[in-house]
Amino acid sequence: MSGKVIAIVGATGAQGGGLAHAILADPDGGFAVRALTRNPDSDAARALADAGAEVVSADISDQASMERAFAGAYGAFCLTNFWEHFSVETEQAQVRVMAAAAKAAGLKHVIWSTLEDTRKWVPLDDDRMPTLQGKYKVPHFDGKGEVDGVWAEAGVPTTCLYTSFYWDNLIHFGMHPQRGEDGGLVLNLPMGDRKLPGIAAQDIGRCAYGIFKQGTSTVGQYVGISGGHYTGQEMADALSEALGEPVAYNAVPFDVYRGLGFPGADDLGNMFQFKHDFEDYFTGRRPVEASRALNPELLSFEAWLAENAKRLPIDPA
Ligand SMILES: NC(=O)c1ccc[n+]([C@@H]2O[C@H](COP(=O)([O-])OP(=O)(O)OC[C@H]3O[C@@H](n4cnc5c(N)ncnc54)[C@H](OP(=O)(O)O)[C@@H]3O)[C@@H](O)[C@H]2O)c1
Repeated sequence: MSGKVIAIVGATGAQGGGLAHAILADPDGGFAVRALTRNPDSDAARALADAGAEVVSADISDQASMERAFAGAYGAFCLTNFWEHFSVETEQAQVRVMAAAAKAAGLKHVIWSTLEDTRKWVPLDDDRMPTLQGKYKVPHFDGKGEVDGVWAEAGVPTTCLYTSFYWDNLIHFGMHPQRGEDGGLVLNLPMGDRKLPGIAAQDIGRCAYGIFKQGTSTVGQYVGISGGHYTGQEMADALSEALGEPVAYNAVPFDVYRGLGFPGADDLGNMFQFKHDFEDYFTGRRPVEASRALNPELLSFEAWLAENAKRLPIDPA
């Protein structure tokens, strides 16, 4: 495969995998994939190599490995994975490593997958939601947004990408409809009657490919993407249709969600409250038609369900 090399952090995962597969599926598109992974022997890394990607060993905590992995590339797609360690400090250190390595390699365009620093909307002294770890409202958002400026400070031409809730969380993150006491299916989501922007995880990478194909016109800007904005009731209605069984929507109170006890429940409870309380901002920042212009294959929730409903881990009736 020849073309401008895009070094992809997270190529073995959801977001980066979507980008890698989008580039590999378009051999005449003028781009080539360099997949970065800590484990080139994993099944996902081997599958990428089989599909035509260059696979290289790199760790976003290790600057020398990142400089090697970025050398000679045109651009990079960069992310961090908060849920692997639950540490804002680790994420932010990794961003600094990636930015310094991108500068050393002279990359022409980086896409940084980020999220809002919610403290710009909900200052720490706003007691509508608890402050977490002493200095955050939504740690996995705030930590990313707080270091968006690191790329520009390092002199790296960067587009900041605001992503959306993956509908794939209904498969992999325990957010699928659960059976209630009466045996009926219930979608438990703390979104009240507000709209939640969502996206098929693979579409994030496909939209990123659309950004790279546009050249560098978005450098210095934020681009927000989603495949659709749905209330919990609308999601439950679409699930009912796709599963062929009624799914009720349960608007879980934020405090109840924060108290569920699984790791990160308080972070996610605050996240949903932020999306709920600032619905106009949050949906407006993630326009569907502009996302579709970047990625004509963009899936709606209904289209995603048509492909994926069978993968939801629904308990039998
Ligand atoms: N779930 C959602 O709804 C949602 C929505 C928006 C944003 N996000 C954000 O998405 C991020 C995770 O992205 P994802 O879902 O695409 O990840 P994922 O599918 O969980 O996979 C994680 C990827 O990150 C790579 N990675 C992690 N640590 C690394 C390291 N130290 N060095 C090199 N590579 C590393 C892994 O590569 P190897 O293991 O192969 O090394 C793997 O490809 C999180 O920060 C989360 O906040 C999630």
